[in-house]
Amino acid sequence: MTEKDFLPNPYQNFPNKGKVSWKAPSNIALVKYWGKRPVQIPANPSISFTLDTCATTTSVSFEKKNESDGFSFDLLFEGRPKEDFKPKISTFFERIEAYLPFLKDYHFKIETSNSFPHSSGIASSASGMAALSLCLMDIERQLSPQMEDSYFTNKTSFLARLGSGSACRSIKGSLVEWGKHQHIPDSSDLYGIEYPFEVEKVFQTYHDTILLVHKGKKEVSSTVGHQLMHGHPYAESRFLQAGQNLDHLKPILASGDLEGFIKLVESEALTLHAMMMSSMPYFMLMKPDTLEIINKIWAYRQETKVPVCFTLDAGANVHMLYPDSAKDHALQFVQDELTAHCENGQYINDQVGKGAIKIND
Ligand code: DP6
Repeated sequence: MTEKDFLPNPYQNFPNKGKVSWKAPSNIALVKYWGKRPVQIPANPSISFTLDTCATTTSVSFEKKNESDGFSFDLLFEGRPKEDFKPKISTFFERIEAYLPFLKDYHFKIETSNSFPHSSGIASSASGMAALSLCLMDIERQLSPQMEDSYFTNKTSFLARLGSGSACRSIKGSLVEWGKHQHIPDSSDLYGIEYPFEVEKVFQTYHDTILLVHKGKKEVSSTVGHQLMHGHPYAESRFLQAGQNLDHLKPILASGDLEGFIKLVESEALTLHAMMMSSMPYFMLMKPDTLEIINKIWAYRQETKVPVCFTLDAGANVHMLYPDSAKDHALQFVQDELTAHCENGQYINDQVGKGAIKIND
């Protein structure tokens, strides 16, 4: 599919008003997206586990208005007006208007809330942009009732990508691939797809305990970090490596090879941060407690053979990944050794999820 396939045919219905609600999960990348070109085209393919507990719920109420007024929307975050989110939504609307030409026909009231604590340092852009895109596509489906489910899913992911790259991996579960890859049929730079190959059941119930090391605002945003991959001395080999890692992951996921999984996922996490540290200007998002946790995970795994491993997103928090069979040991380990390194002892137990759901009001 190309961008043009997402330009709609003339709408058949124009309801005067309505309301739709969706809950979209966060996701954690195993092979990382880091580097992009305009508009939101990834420099390399990536893959993520869709999460379950960490999610954004968004409702969009819409009411007909005069089209010539431009975009019009109110934004409420956790019940309160949130002015500082509005520019991001305005930019998003401008980017997607050609694909959703009804946007200027309605006034929208967008009400959104996260399942995770506001100040947890967890990026809400993936789940937030996914939930908003789902609501907007649900409205488009009311305007074009014969829309097919596959079109709905692909276009939702396509729109979410234009809001935040990783958001395109937050529509479906449980493993989503995004970015053109010569060995992955139907893969696309424009939207995420459900991973099309065999996945052993151990990976379908994997756990992710998110250790909240640092809850403040990041010094360098992902958007700036992506830009620093332009002219980065290691960029080309990194982009190549990401594609190769997707190839290597295929037999690992199919066979349930935990050792191979751990090696690949931890290497991807450290490579992501190595890219940050070797950018110009260079920066570092890991904190001393991030390293303490990583070292403790390595020591614990070596001593006990419990297959816990870690990955990182663009921040200081550590995602500790483990199979369901290791759950009791892993949670005990968190209690005994890791909470001391978390801000206010906070962490979130999450697991692989099945994707976004519609909420019926
Ligand atoms: C490190 O999707 O947050 O989490 O496209 O600029 O919104 P924008 O960036 P974003 O980048 C996520 C980067 C990452 C890796 C990943 O999720 O693949």
